[in-house]
Amino acid sequence: MSDEKPKGTENQPAESKSAKGTESTPAKPVAKEKSAERVRAEKMSPKAKVAADNKGSLWMSRRDFSSRAGWFAFFAFCGSFLIGSLRFMFPRVLFEPSPVFKAGYPDDYPAGSVTTKWVKDQRVWIVRGDEGIYAILALCTHLGCTPRWLDAENKFKCPCHGSGFTREGVNFEGPAPRPLERVKVSLTEDGQLLVDKSIKFLEEKGEWGKPGSVLPV
Ligand code: FES
Repeated sequence: MSDEKPKGTENQPAESKSAKGTESTPAKPVAKEKSAERVRAEKMSPKAKVAADNKGSLWMSRRDFSSRAGWFAFFAFCGSFLIGSLRFMFPRVLFEPSPVFKAGYPDDYPAGSVTTKWVKDQRVWIVRGDEGIYAILALCTHLGCTPRWLDAENKFKCPCHGSGFTREGVNFEGPAPRPLERVKVSLTEDGQLLVDKSIKFLEEKGEWGKPGSVLPV
């Protein structure tokens, strides 16, 4: 009867049994925990082991995700900073063609001619009349369409609403309220015509007689 072990002490290690009731140092709790974990792991079913492993791998993937998100945010910030810097260094600027252009030599324009070759690129006709050479802006004074020179009819005709202008640029039919505008013509040092569209001469303001409105030849 005296050999009977108390309930729950069958699996206790011999050491702990012998230490019971003595004043020796208590068993280390960390070592106990470790051994308990080992025992628990050994007792785990294969299914539970797989579940535990998956739990670990899920935690790792979350950590990876956070790390990648951090890098992504960092590179996004750097990219936007770089783009902002480049835009600062190269601001958006509209490069408009120069309003000044060379139009060849006076002899290229026979007496009484209306030259239309500059209309497409420069929107200008060059006319050689009795008073000299002048340049007319190909812009209808009604609503801004581009009239056409009709050689047979000796006039400029606007295709939009039918305004007509003489070879001097004076409006005589249709809704255009005023004559076409002339632009400055001068000579370069090498004797070429220089047309400056930024300087205009308006007939209704009495500017057609001003220097630059016509080049005497
Ligand atoms: S735009 Fe030329 S007639 Fe109207």
